[in-house]
Amino acid sequence: MVEATRGFGIDIGGSGIKGALVDLARGQLIGDRIRIDTPQPSTPEAVADVVAEITGQAGWDGPVGVTLPAVVKKGVAHTAANIDHKWIGTDADALFAKRLGRGVDDIAMLNDADAAGMAEIRFGDPVARRGVTALLTFGTGIGSAVFQDGKLVPNTEFGHIEVDGFDAEKKAAASVKDNEELSYPQWAERVNRYLTVLENLIWPDLFIVGGGVSKKSHKWVPLLEIRTPVLVASLQNNAGIVGAAAAAAEGIEH
Ligand code: BGC
Repeated sequence: MVEATRGFGIDIGGSGIKGALVDLARGQLIGDRIRIDTPQPSTPEAVADVVAEITGQAGWDGPVGVTLPAVVKKGVAHTAANIDHKWIGTDADALFAKRLGRGVDDIAMLNDADAAGMAEIRFGDPVARRGVTALLTFGTGIGSAVFQDGKLVPNTEFGHIEVDGFDAEKKAAASVKDNEELSYPQWAERVNRYLTVLENLIWPDLFIVGGGVSKKSHKWVPLLEIRTPVLVASLQNNAGIVGAAAAAAEGIEH
């Protein structure tokens, strides 16, 4: 079998759905990223229409990797913190295969943070491939991906650990910074508290911080005072797309 050198990844988020063709040798996008606002309500059917629009616009008819901001097991979504509740119990694999006119084996479904983590492990700093690495994505919610020696433990959902009596992402997601109009130092304090609780829980060797807010990492990462070393995601906000494309090309699903 000839190894695929290009793949297509789609990252479904609470505010936008983004897709692009990916160079799987370098872990980089080929050409432009297509972004369409997440439909409201973000029901499975409405989201599937957008996904079909994106692959159509790109003229791509090969396998597609798709992320969801949800626990995904064997193609089925089991939670829906920042997406319409109709996703719970939806066989996303079957839905997208039907809507895109492909076989279920041509669709790889995975959690968005797990996809981002897979991309960082493959294409980011090699130090992440040793020991226990936890990647956190700060966006609408907080996503997590945990690896031991490069191997993923899927669906960890550490954005929902309880911190000082609250669901962690309700206090420390990047969306909270915007909604509560927090300054970077104010928000960094919340992230610091969150990461402190998490490092005391799982004792990682490395944190990688990602999500859109990682583009401005110089404004908050230097303010963190935690035991664990912190790396900024090298693929920033495209990691989900790259990880999804790699998963589709390799036929990976959890
Ligand atoms: C969801 C996770 C997701 C994260 C980031 C959380 O609310 O529960 O599945 O990875 O948001 O989108």
